[in-house]
Amino acid sequence: MYLISNREMLKKAQRGGYAVPAFNVHNLETVQVVVETAAAMASPVILAGTPSTFTYAGLEYLVSICHQAARVNHLPIALHLDHHEEYDDICHKVRSGIRSVMIDGSHFAFEQNIEAVRRVVKYCQNYDVSVEAELGRLGGQEDDLVVDGQDSFYTDPMAAKEYITRTGIDSLAVAIGSAHGLYHGEPHLDFERLAAIKQQVDIPLVLHGASGIPEKMVKRAIALGVCKVNVATDLKIAFADAVKAHFAEHPDANDPRKYITPGKDAMRKVVEDKIKICGSAAML
Ligand code: 13P
Repeated sequence: MYLISNREMLKKAQRGGYAVPAFNVHNLETVQVVVETAAAMASPVILAGTPSTFTYAGLEYLVSICHQAARVNHLPIALHLDHHEEYDDICHKVRSGIRSVMIDGSHFAFEQNIEAVRRVVKYCQNYDVSVEAELGRLGGQEDDLVVDGQDSFYTDPMAAKEYITRTGIDSLAVAIGSAHGLYHGEPHLDFERLAAIKQQVDIPLVLHGASGIPEKMVKRAIALGVCKVNVATDLKIAFADAVKAHFAEHPDANDPRKYITPGKDAMRKVVEDKIKICGSAAML
């Protein structure tokens, strides 16, 4: 099985001072683009799926497609559960071959969040599965997960230290000002807070909502301890815009192989750019 946990990938990135990109995928074509590009650039890579992506594509289909993509491209990859919340659902997906999990308890109060995460960590230990969790709460929209600005809050560095000790997680998603989906105006990241978190904790940190964040800011976040950079929206926009442009030029197009290909090509360029920004090329 070429579907691996992200534990060693992220530890290696931490030692090397780069980040592993995590790209949200939805179907055969998006998996092909990400894995082929990562393999061509010799970059470690994480393929992420939200609960609604697994519902859309089908768990067995997605696991099989990712497994074959890894095998065909000679590239071990982490197929990662992005923003999963339900214990039974996570366990079922682990039993189906997933080795990289995010349990999102960020909507809970501190103690409840710890409780929910610990339970998942305990289960995942039996399967050598890596676990990521979020402290603080990101705003914005990621598929069915919608968090209003007033419900979002930043990660407290001291609480992060306690959270990691008590849960036993492998990586921590931090809330430092990034948001899922599109930004209205210039994004602001709280780098002082990120540095303070880094001083308190020694596990890899994860930046969610990296679409739309300027390259310089992502690189600074990586220099301050971010080892995993999550990207979804920028890929979706590139893909959709190219397909829309194809239909605008060829209104009678009806062959999926023809109208999907420009979407794949546009998405491939974004994947290449993000791998370069993460500094993960040639790090295999
Ligand atoms: P974006 O859609 O803003 O890139 O966020 C992706 C993400 O954080 C997935 O967890």
